[in-house]
Amino acid sequence: MSLTGKHILSSDLFDRDELERLFELADLLVPVARGQQVTRVLEGAVLASLFFEASTRTRLSCETAFLRLGGGVTSTTGTEVTSIAKGETLADTSRVVSGYCDLVVMRHPEVSSIHEFAAATNVPVINAGNGAGEHPTQALLDMFAIHREFGRLGKTVDGSRIALVGDLRHGRTVHSLVKLLSRYEDLTIVCVAPDELNMPAHLLELAAERGHTVEESDQPSLGLKDADVVYTTRLQTERFKDRPLPYSDDFRVDAALADRVFRSDAVIMHPLPRDGRPGSNDLSPDLNRDPRLAIFRQTDAGIPTRMALFASVLGVADEIRDSLRPARWYRPEFVGPDDAPFYK
Ligand code: NCD
Repeated sequence: MSLTGKHILSSDLFDRDELERLFELADLLVPVARGQQVTRVLEGAVLASLFFEASTRTRLSCETAFLRLGGGVTSTTGTEVTSIAKGETLADTSRVVSGYCDLVVMRHPEVSSIHEFAAATNVPVINAGNGAGEHPTQALLDMFAIHREFGRLGKTVDGSRIALVGDLRHGRTVHSLVKLLSRYEDLTIVCVAPDELNMPAHLLELAAERGHTVEESDQPSLGLKDADVVYTTRLQTERFKDRPLPYSDDFRVDAALADRVFRSDAVIMHPLPRDGRPGSNDLSPDLNRDPRLAIFRQTDAGIPTRMALFASVLGVADEIRDSLRPARWYRPEFVGPDDAPFYK
């Protein structure tokens, strides 16, 4: 299958071959993402980046990925400063914006928004998060991060035990991730959440139909045990409106829990942002110096993954290898002062 010209609305689109092809391209693009090499395969192309809901990393990493491919970016954030505030439909916005650019990345709080937007244009549209629906580019970067961590650890995704913990009902990243995980073989997928925040049944069924073992637990100290990947998530408070939040301290993933129940070679992930305020029941900053914590290697993985996707959707993936040149500006060897030595 070719991704050229396709809308990327769901992670359903990617089968195993497509994932492997994208990750091979993303591996090639890591030095470009790190500012060590340069490519200009998208010179002259324009990305429209439309974020009608809060974002830091998805917007910046999509825009950075496009810029690092040599393209340009035009963007808007929020609805207050756009014509949506004047009653414009998403279909009209879509047709207008498509006349200005070659690719659209959009985030919106409504699940149906991305479909309405994509139906009004032939310019490829990439879903950067549609309410509690999906977040396919996050799932791609999560899988790419797992591929790199497992490469370092000498493990394969096939046959591994992957635990997802937190607000699995409203968390769109885990919805897209389960679809990608299910493309591998013989996984045990453990969903760890309070009853009210369980993974939607259709996704559990999909994983089971594709031959995986699916387990559910409402106790992190049991559910996260022996997992090769512990994928933590934030309570999606913005999706609760006035309902009480069904969460206890047990859902705080901290050093005490990790030392008690996690494997010594576990990969601890989070799509971020995490709620780092004292007392929050999220991934605790007290794990920051634990080499098992892969969250910043994971965010870094967003740039090469999105570059690989954009180049594929715009039909220039085959030109990348021959286009690479060395970069000449200064870059530190490690971005974060605490980056682990296996950061390669
Ligand atoms: C996630 C999102 O927006 O769904 N953030 C992200 O894009 N990395 C996760 C979240 O907000 O909890």
